[in-house]
Amino acid sequence: MAAACEFSGELNAFIDEWKTKPGNLIMILHKVQEEKGYISKESAVEVAERTGMPLARVYGTMTFYHFFKTVKPGKNRISVCLGTACYLKGGQDLIDEARTLLGLASGEITTHDGLFSVEPVRCIGCCGLAPVLTVNGDVYGKLSKNQIDEIIATYQNK
Ligand code: FES
Repeated sequence: MAAACEFSGELNAFIDEWKTKPGNLIMILHKVQEEKGYISKESAVEVAERTGMPLARVYGTMTFYHFFKTVKPGKNRISVCLGTACYLKGGQDLIDEARTLLGLASGEITTHDGLFSVEPVRCIGCCGLAPVLTVNGDVYGKLSKNQIDEIIATYQNK
């Protein structure tokens, strides 16, 4: 008997439709990430089994392309812009401050309680507001690092 599948019917149908088409692996991984928010090990195994591709190839593709996330994002996703304008105006300080306030150790993206994740992103098109970050898509601009505390507090109970 097949292992229990954690994918939705829609995702399963998408995989069935795409599994023999060229370029399918990237399309399928995008769809998995869209549904799950990231690509877990279990999802990667499932994709390999369903498409008949070696697991090493699935992992290789996931790690080669930066847009695939392999770690579950937090409930509140803090994305700090490190595009040129934001970087020059202190974007890195914002990331460092957010990570420190949330107690993230080196290499960690998501807090242990799953409430927050902090990640750098490329230019989000609001360069006039640099430095910029977004939380769940809400844009905060012209920031200094001493405002990060307040922004995090806003989402603490959401
Ligand atoms: S560089 Fe940050 S919004 Fe463009």
